[in-house]
Amino acid sequence: MTNSMRYVSLKANIDGLPKESDFEFKDAPFPELKESQFIAENHFVSVDPGMRSRLSGVTGYAPCVKPGEAVSGFAIGRVLESCNAAYKKGDMVTMGGSWASHSVFGGAGFAFKLPEVDIPASLFLGVLGIPGMTSYFGLKRIGRFQKGDHILVTSAAGPVGATAGQLAKHWGAASVTGIAGSEEKCNWLTEKAGFDTAINYKTESDLAGAISRACPEGVDVLFDNVGNAMIDTVLPMMRFNGRIIVSGQTADYNVPLEERHGIKNTIEFIASRLLMQGLVVFDDIPNFVKAQNEMSILIQEGKLVYKEKIFEGLETLPSAFCGLFKGENFGRQLVKVGSF
Ligand SMILES: NC(=O)c1ccc[n+]([C@@H]2O[C@H](COP(=O)([O-])OP(=O)(O)OC[C@H]3O[C@@H](n4cnc5c(N)ncnc54)[C@H](OP(=O)(O)O)[C@@H]3O)[C@@H](O)[C@H]2O)c1
Repeated sequence: MTNSMRYVSLKANIDGLPKESDFEFKDAPFPELKESQFIAENHFVSVDPGMRSRLSGVTGYAPCVKPGEAVSGFAIGRVLESCNAAYKKGDMVTMGGSWASHSVFGGAGFAFKLPEVDIPASLFLGVLGIPGMTSYFGLKRIGRFQKGDHILVTSAAGPVGATAGQLAKHWGAASVTGIAGSEEKCNWLTEKAGFDTAINYKTESDLAGAISRACPEGVDVLFDNVGNAMIDTVLPMMRFNGRIIVSGQTADYNVPLEERHGIKNTIEFIASRLLMQGLVVFDDIPNFVKAQNEMSILIQEGKLVYKEKIFEGLETLPSAFCGLFKGENFGRQLVKVGSF
């Protein structure tokens, strides 16, 4: 057994769109494990748009990744060595890990053993992982979803957006509209994922007009994954007591703060008594298993569909990540790093 790991590290803090050359590959010996820690051999590692905000040297709700450090990603792997009684050698786990051949659990944070269910393990990084949990708790806790709501989802063909739209439909939304960046994505949303309408924001010259035609009664819940310009566009179409879920800001992550679109239509908050709230899905960890059980049944019954693209090999991590900001992913983007 090898006692070293290969990882992808950040060369320097990133400005603007990330490039493959912002990353480099390094090797290191396994660390000496302390009490409560374990090391797992990664099978799959995720690339996540939210990671971009941690690569600029600014600490937000999660600490920034410093140059020279391994980039973080969610991982699925098998425990190799453990000093933690809850995780034994051989256990399959999902955890907050690294873009690496191995992930080290530091003793606290996000990790759990994969349940023994007849569902592909990779789904615990997608529709049943952090993206799917973001959809579920975004709608329920932040969006205060109610049967009969009219829902609008941005970046709707991504794992968060696609799952949110389908859950809303399944729970009794009056209508679900998605916004996405290609005809192929829009067609999949309406033909396979059960969205009522999908708008291609890249070819639509009058986005506000297209949204108001798709949502003639207005929007009760905006599930926003992209950022301020989109929220500002939708604000005048929000219904009385509407809710805006600030899930992510993929369109803004690469733009310096001073150049970002501001939210100008703030009068709508007063006129329509709107609520806008941010989500950090880790606040909902105690309830993940309940949500996963509910969603696993929907998946097994074919009522919750998903797409994933799996790249092969650690060396593909930087390009898989950079592709997220060019709309290259269609569904969950994962990298298979191990030989298992
Ligand atoms: N708050 C939380 O706890 C939490 C947890 C997990 C994820 N999130 C957030 O949820 C959001 C969605 O995550 P995800 O994993 O499902 O990723 P995702 O939506 O698949 O993100 C990548 C997609 O974003 C779209 N995109 C890229 N650049 C864009 C731009 N400039 N303007 C508009 N759209 C753009 C592209 O789709 P198109 O082809 O449609 O443009 C691309 O395929 C992210 O912002 C993420 O940070 C939040």
